[in-house]
Amino acid sequence: MLSVFHLSLFGFGFIFVFSSVYSETPSTMSIGRSPRSATHLVHHLDASPLMVAADVTDARGLKAPRTLLSEYLWQQTQQHHNQALQSGFVQGIRNASLNPEGFGGYMLQDSVFCYKASNNIAIAESNATDPFIKQFLQKTLKSYQEYYQALFNTWHIEDASGIKLGQACSAYIAHEHNVAMNLNSVYFVVALIPCAKLWPWIGQQIAADTGNFGVYTKWVQENFSPDSSGVTKYETLINNAEAQGVINRNEALEVYTKSMMGEVNFFGSIKTI
Ligand SMILES: *[C@@H]1O[C@H](CO)[C@@H](O)[C@H](O)[C@H]1NC(C)=O
Ligand SMILES: *[C@@H]1O[C@H](CO)[C@@H](O)[C@H](O)[C@H]1NC(C)=O
Repeated sequence: MLSVFHLSLFGFGFIFVFSSVYSETPSTMSIGRSPRSATHLVHHLDASPLMVAADVTDARGLKAPRTLLSEYLWQQTQQHHNQALQSGFVQGIRNASLNPEGFGGYMLQDSVFCYKASNNIAIAESNATDPFIKQFLQKTLKSYQEYYQALFNTWHIEDASGIKLGQACSAYIAHEHNVAMNLNSVYFVVALIPCAKLWPWIGQQIAADTGNFGVYTKWVQENFSPDSSGVTKYETLINNAEAQGVINRNEALEVYTKSMMGEVNFFGSIKTI
């Protein structure tokens, strides 16, 4: 993040003094939006051939029109969106009544989630053969690393292995690991979409932009911002990937549903009152 090199002329030469905004002194800055729901790096995918629609009409032009993959995935997981919205964590935040221990419990685990996710992104990146997906994953990795470092600083975490994760968070991490290890890296983009789409959707349902959520207002505005324009690009990528035969619909549904359930179960695992 905003690491700054101060160049000072001192004594016989130049001395570089490294300083960081994540210093010992309390900061009034908030950490900002989680890279789990942020989509500002999606432009790295713009030049991918997968962003260009393939001609999916077969030689005889008989191919039946089909629901777009992205719409299919969202429709198939509809009940889970509502489960996430109705979770005690989200409703507690909406109500500004969430037990601070619950919020802390979520953020501590999320710190480790983002740390472990960055390891998984690194695996997906190293496996990626599409140069645009590779570049996107490189930038995404960097943003996760910066974010978990900031969370470690805020929550006073020295070592991730000292944080005991609940079963829901662990299962979500294991799912991403599995996708990174075993599938074409375009499926890693599929695995990222549920959070990137669900959080803005929740934001829309609770009027995140204008509502008053007490002490949680800033967190809600940053993380549940209803702007989902970046998600549309992820969706274009996976829709074209399916049309070009790079993605299989059933496999995509399994990956997507597990990520969506990861969100639902992680929210659902938090003690709220
Ligand atoms: C909402 O807040 C009220 C008190 O202001 C409380 O009684 C109720 O349990 C809260 N609901 C949730 C879901 O946290
Ligand atoms: C992805 O990378 C990991 C670690 O390098 C490797 O073990 C795994 O076989 C790779 N998977 C694919 C699908 O390339």
